[in-house]
Amino acid sequence: MKKQFPENFWWGAATSGPQSEGRFNKQHASVFDHWYEVEPEAFYDQVGPDTASNFYNSFKEDIALMKEVGLNSVRTSIQWSRLIDDFETASLNPDGVRFYNDLIDEFIRQGIRPVINLHHFDIPVALYQQYGGWESKHVVTLFVKFAEQCFNLFGDRVTDWFTFNEPMVVVDGQYLYQFHYPKLVDGKKAVQVAYNIQLASAKTIQAFRRIKQQPASRIGIILNLTPSYPATNEAADLKAAEIANLWMNQLFMDPSTKGTFPPALVELLAADGVLWDSTPEELAIIKDNTIDVLGVNFYHPHRVQQPAVSADSLAVDWMPSRYFEEYHMPGRRMNVDKGWEIYPQALYDIALNIRDNYGNLPWFVSENGMGVSREERFLNQAGVIEDDYRIQFIQEHLYWLEKGISEGSNCFGYHLWTPLDCWSWGNAYRNRYGLIATNIHTQVKTIKKSGHWFAKTAQANQVEI
Ligand code: BG6
Repeated sequence: MKKQFPENFWWGAATSGPQSEGRFNKQHASVFDHWYEVEPEAFYDQVGPDTASNFYNSFKEDIALMKEVGLNSVRTSIQWSRLIDDFETASLNPDGVRFYNDLIDEFIRQGIRPVINLHHFDIPVALYQQYGGWESKHVVTLFVKFAEQCFNLFGDRVTDWFTFNEPMVVVDGQYLYQFHYPKLVDGKKAVQVAYNIQLASAKTIQAFRRIKQQPASRIGIILNLTPSYPATNEAADLKAAEIANLWMNQLFMDPSTKGTFPPALVELLAADGVLWDSTPEELAIIKDNTIDVLGVNFYHPHRVQQPAVSADSLAVDWMPSRYFEEYHMPGRRMNVDKGWEIYPQALYDIALNIRDNYGNLPWFVSENGMGVSREERFLNQAGVIEDDYRIQFIQEHLYWLEKGISEGSNCFGYHLWTPLDCWSWGNAYRNRYGLIATNIHTQVKTIKKSGHWFAKTAQANQVEI
């Protein structure tokens, strides 16, 4: 069976500055650079972000490989801690400016559309230490200054911009579930951080519209959408799934697209005494500065049920998981290496949800992928990793995506996570996601079987299943 994709479809892949560049010549440390300095044992095999995929040094050769695997667009991010010297004034670091100029020019020279994101979990640690990072509205102001520098410097060549990648991960990882530095558990701060990031996104969009250099340029946000399916059709499980969706998906999706936070979530947070501090002026900025375009990162769905312990009986700090807990559905398909369920049909559900409930706005899959460990197990005699599981994973997701598109959802692209195996937060290099393998000792890069397959698929603009 062949499934054809729309004309000018984005066949691409995504990475981020902190995960690919390496720390070379960086004036400042991000929270992750700092975390690795103070607690290297928190990272798999104690591998930190210092070298990553060496993209800072080898981006020209790496982009040539990206071209070879058929990518017509690639997302990466500009590191705040590389571009800016003084965060208060947003004065520029000359090497940072040179690097990102060269990088963007090289993408364009090799015929790949650069898609630029401004924040991928990598706030400069100095801003955390001085102001509490996203807990502070002053940091919101500083972020907008950094973003303005990016628009002014690169907006003549970059037309596709994104404010934040997966803001929910900042909230969850840093403030609730302790998987990102500084690993706090503080529900009240978590809620304020969510609000401040949404405000930062809206203020950045406002600045972008004031200074954008090309009429066709557009801006959006990248959200990890994880549809939450109830364990049963009983009222308590349906309620659990409704609240899970409000918290995990609608918290950023609604204000980013409609300009307002979901009233049911605001009521719940207010009743629990954790609602954010906001002003009418800020809410008006959020209302007036919604996105042009949406990026959706999709890896796995959530199955949820009512929690075993009722919300009222908990005396501990506020947590969204008072209202829902994970349901381990018997028989679900799993990627055991990563521990995530594989459920491609959710991409179709997302496509129809955007079509029906979000004004059918233009969107693309900004990340989707399969992390597998010890991929050298699958090396063939020619030295190529035969990652048929990844090909199947992509095929199945493209199948459901195309079904959504053929039923009217306005999706214009698919970006795989990730072009080259890259460094990945606490997981470091344990799970590999790339179309191109990176040997982290020699930095030799080799196209995997999935890379050759992806090139043919992109070239044909259709997937064969
Ligand atoms: C996404 C992030 O959440 O998932 C990426 O945007 C990340 O930065 C990817 O690398 C895969 O997750 P992990 O933890 O397996 O690397």
